[in-house]
Amino acid sequence: MPQKRILTGDRPTGKLHLGHYIGSHRHRLALQDQYECFFLVADLHMLTTKNTKEDILAIADNARAIVLDQLAIGIDPAKVTFYLQSAVHEIYELQLLLSGLVTVERLQQLPTIKDMADAAGLEQIPYNLLGYPVLQSADILMPRAHLVPVGKDNESHVELSRQIARRFNNAYGEVFPLPEPFVVGGTLVGTDGQAKMSKSLDNAIFLSDDAATVRRRVFSMYTDPNRISADVPGNVVGNPVFQYHDYFNPNQAEVEDLKERYRAGRVGDVEVKEKLAIALNNFLDPIRERRAHYESQTGYVDELLYEGTLAARQEGQATLSEVKKAMGLTGVWNRVSRGAEKRRKRNP
Ligand code: TRP
Repeated sequence: MPQKRILTGDRPTGKLHLGHYIGSHRHRLALQDQYECFFLVADLHMLTTKNTKEDILAIADNARAIVLDQLAIGIDPAKVTFYLQSAVHEIYELQLLLSGLVTVERLQQLPTIKDMADAAGLEQIPYNLLGYPVLQSADILMPRAHLVPVGKDNESHVELSRQIARRFNNAYGEVFPLPEPFVVGGTLVGTDGQAKMSKSLDNAIFLSDDAATVRRRVFSMYTDPNRISADVPGNVVGNPVFQYHDYFNPNQAEVEDLKERYRAGRVGDVEVKEKLAIALNNFLDPIRERRAHYESQTGYVDELLYEGTLAARQEGQATLSEVKKAMGLTGVWNRVSRGAEKRRKRNP
C-alpha cells in the first residue's frame, strides 16, 4: 500500500508566529511521518485579497520565510514537497475544469468568503475571491490528497473539495479519492490579550524572534488588569500569560505552583513572566539552531522550493491527464489532430 497523502498550505503573507504554530504547524510535525506530504505556498490564494504590485513583489521573500520557519520547527525536507502554487500551471487548469461542478449560490453561502472580504476591507466580492474554495479544491485534488489538515475556519472548503471530487467521479469516472478534512486546532491569544495572535495587530511573537525580543514581548504582555499589585488574588483563566505557560512550559509542576500563588495573591507578574520568557526561549532554542543550520546553506530553501515545484508540476500533469481523459477532452483533441495529420499526409 503506498502511503496516503496530505495536502495543506499557507498564504505567504509573512513569517510564522507562535499562533500559527499552535493552530496549525505543530500538527504537521506529527503527521509528516505517517503521510506523504504536500505543503504549498498558496500565493494565488493571497491574490484574492492582496494583489498590488508590492504584495506580489513580497511573495518570494515571504515564501522563503514560511518554508524556513517550517524547517526550523522540524519539518523534514525529505518527507515533504514544498511548492509555489503560482508556478504550477496545472492547478489553474484544474480549477477551471472543476468550476463546472459547483454553483455560484453554493459559494455565496459560505460565510468564509464574506469574512475574508470584510477583513480585507472589500465592499464587493472579486471573482477570484468567490472562487477561493474552488482553487483550494484544485490544490487538494491536484495531488489526489486523502487528508487535509486545516483549521476550523477552512473546514467548509475541504467539504466543498470533497463534494467536487464526488461529483467529478460520478460524472466522468473515478479519478479522485474523497479528501477528508482533518480539523486541527488550538488558538493562541495575542500578547495584548485582546485578539487572536496576528502580525497586523502587532501582538505576535515570531518563531524567528531572538531571545531578547521574546523577553521584551513577554514583559509587555497583558495579564489580569484588576491585579494592581502582587498581593491581590488574580485570574488565571483567560489570562494570556497562563495560556502561554500551558502551551509552552513543559514544567507542569512549576505552572501549577505559579497558578496557585497567582490565585492567592502570592506571586508577582515579574516572576510569572520571567519563567514564561525562559520557557519560551527554551522552546525556541532548538528552532533557532535548526534555522541557523539551514540558513548557513546559502540557497538551500530556494532549491527546495524549486525542486518541490518541479515535482508538483509532474504530479499535476499526471492528474490533469487523468482528468482530461476521464472527461473526454483528450479524445476531442486526438480527433482534431488525427484529422489534421491525415490532411497533411494527403497534401504534403
Ligand atoms: N485557505 C488556507 C488559508 O487559510 C490556505 C490554503 C490554500 C490551503 N490552499 C489550501 C489549506 C489547501 C489547505 C489546503 O490560508
